[in-house]
Amino acid sequence: MIKGFIFDLDGVIVDTARYHYLAWKRLADELAIPFTEKDNERLKGVSRGQSLDIILSLGHKKLPEQEKHALATKKNNWYVEYIMQMTPAEILPGVLPFLTAAREMKIKTALGSASKNAGTILNKLNLTGFFDVVVTGNEVSKAKPDPEVFLLGAKGLGLPPAACLVFEDAGAGIEAARRGGMKSIGIGSAAVLGKANRVAGGLHELSVEEVLKI
Ligand code: BG6
Ligand code: MG
Repeated sequence: MIKGFIFDLDGVIVDTARYHYLAWKRLADELAIPFTEKDNERLKGVSRGQSLDIILSLGHKKLPEQEKHALATKKNNWYVEYIMQMTPAEILPGVLPFLTAAREMKIKTALGSASKNAGTILNKLNLTGFFDVVVTGNEVSKAKPDPEVFLLGAKGLGLPPAACLVFEDAGAGIEAARRGGMKSIGIGSAAVLGKANRVAGGLHELSVEEVLKI
């Protein structure tokens, strides 16, 4: 029986993927590396360092660790500039009613995000109070598809993995849920998220009652 929900942040709660793309695109342009929105799909759910590695591989570039660190910091500074402008109006459709209903029905709620900026984003959107537990990229050492982030979420909620349902927009996140022994709902297109137990365009298409029956 499902007793807890674990939500990814970027692409499920808020469309920050757009800001990640803009910041990476700016860096890629500076490095004269071709980088498209299609390439950006590969960065979803993936850590900052791994994202940079993917971009460098697109440009057939290899750089020393120190330089890579400086580039990742540069991208993050641009990204933070974008997210500091965000308002609660950017919360994706259906998120607030879904979270409210879940909490009214005594379902425990956790955030499980690869982003080190997740705490800042939740604060900006006035969403921190909706989560019993918040696990971010600052607490995990292994990126999705490793299940670490979701297992920490389940542990924080005091629930076994099988009692948790994951909401994810990245293929790597659906795989992380599966490896962690959790069912999942894919938010996005079935072509990318086919391994999820159910796929929907967003939380506005789902009700708490129906996902509990999964
Ligand atoms: C994930 C995003 O949520 O967080 C990835 O889907 C991103 O695209 C990752 O790279 C890390 O984010 P941050 O904010 O720590 O650079
Ligand atoms: Mg995501």
